[in-house]
Amino acid sequence: MNILLIGSGGREHALAWAMVRSPLCTQLHIAPGNGGTRDLGIHPDLDIDDHGAIVGYARQHDVGLVVIGPEAPLVAGLADDLRAAGIDVFGPSAEAAQLEGSKTFTKQLCDRMNIPTAAYASFSSHDAARDHLQNNPAPIVVKADGLAAGKGVTVAMSDEAALAALEAVFTGDAEATVVIEQFLSGEEASMFFLCDGTTALPFGSAQDHKRVGDGDTGPNTGGMGAYSPAPIVDEAMALRVQREIVEPTLQGMSEDGRPFRGVLFVGLMIDADGPKLIEFNVRFGDPECQVLMMRLESDLVSLLLACARGDLAGQSAEWSKDTALTVVLAAEGYPGSYEKGSLIKGLPDIHDETIQVFHAGTQRVEKQIQAVGGRVLNVTALGANATQAQQRAYAAVDRIDWPEGFCRRDIGWRAVEREKHDG
Ligand code: AMP
Ligand code: GLY
Repeated sequence: MNILLIGSGGREHALAWAMVRSPLCTQLHIAPGNGGTRDLGIHPDLDIDDHGAIVGYARQHDVGLVVIGPEAPLVAGLADDLRAAGIDVFGPSAEAAQLEGSKTFTKQLCDRMNIPTAAYASFSSHDAARDHLQNNPAPIVVKADGLAAGKGVTVAMSDEAALAALEAVFTGDAEATVVIEQFLSGEEASMFFLCDGTTALPFGSAQDHKRVGDGDTGPNTGGMGAYSPAPIVDEAMALRVQREIVEPTLQGMSEDGRPFRGVLFVGLMIDADGPKLIEFNVRFGDPECQVLMMRLESDLVSLLLACARGDLAGQSAEWSKDTALTVVLAAEGYPGSYEKGSLIKGLPDIHDETIQVFHAGTQRVEKQIQAVGGRVLNVTALGANATQAQQRAYAAVDRIDWPEGFCRRDIGWRAVEREKHDG
């Protein structure tokens, strides 16, 4: 079967890497892809905002499955347009993508389906939101509604910070909606579920590092590294998340006439009371996907097809028992401004089945790899535990010659400490 993959991040390189191993994949097409996906398929010159062109390309090339990586084309309805043309697609409709596209939508679903999450109130008036903060002191969380690439959330530890966050949202957009929610404490983890509208198949857990600096300091980023599995998500916890959060979500979405098909990324805060939903995303995490793909032993294409076709019941996914850990190499300056165009060397000789360098913001210029984005490489290793995976990943990082890049040196610290403690 011919498959078309949409996206250009480390997530898409990892998905492409897993898909080309499938006996079901005849030819992979990737739009737009990156410097690392060049060897894995054909790269047509397609504008991913031009849905008509994508449908046309898929028809012309007899594409049997389209896999949509990022959230923006999902929220924009690319999956709807492909389905309307009779093409199987992995990824939710625009209406179902509201689980990521609108925090207010998700909170209302949680209310209706009794899903455990932080208490909240939603405001489209600056004055009313300010009044609410007066009655609800810090710590408190202020979120801009809508897609904000992870930048719309302020965890305010003081009343001043909460007011300033509100100010920033309404200054940026006078018509904005904000969600103000209760501060949750505990340990964060993510779980992934493949969904076909009615059935949810657990698809691994991970923990990421959102802050740019060692010790989880500095500004938020898209993610500076991740590992899988998340030690805090044991079998009992995974079952609770499925029963208390994911199943009621699928049920509520179906009742609403917007069945969810695709991957549900469940952001959790876990404390002694159990799991609470922080947020949903309607796509794989980046870099979480990279560590999931390293551990996946099942055929990815057959599972994604089952999601697309509503055939997930009875399917299972097999995983390596090893831990996978990925370290993001980013351009100096990220998440602020950074230079583009520097050359990366030392790459080709470090690939084996247990170490992979997934590219994100790279492009290939003749035989050379150039950095052209903020997050640039994902150096990913398998190990018998987190400690070993961390050592192997950093040993590979140290062989890459890219003076204009940097990385955190402590990815996986929480799991490594836990292993020290457990002996
Ligand atoms: P979100 O974009 O909703 O995932 O939020 C980004 C980050 O803000 C999360 O990964 C958490 O670290 C933090 N966060 C969001 N909501 C809360 C909450 N209610 N309590 C504590 N931290 C939160
Ligand atoms: N790494 C977080 C995300 O993909 O949203």
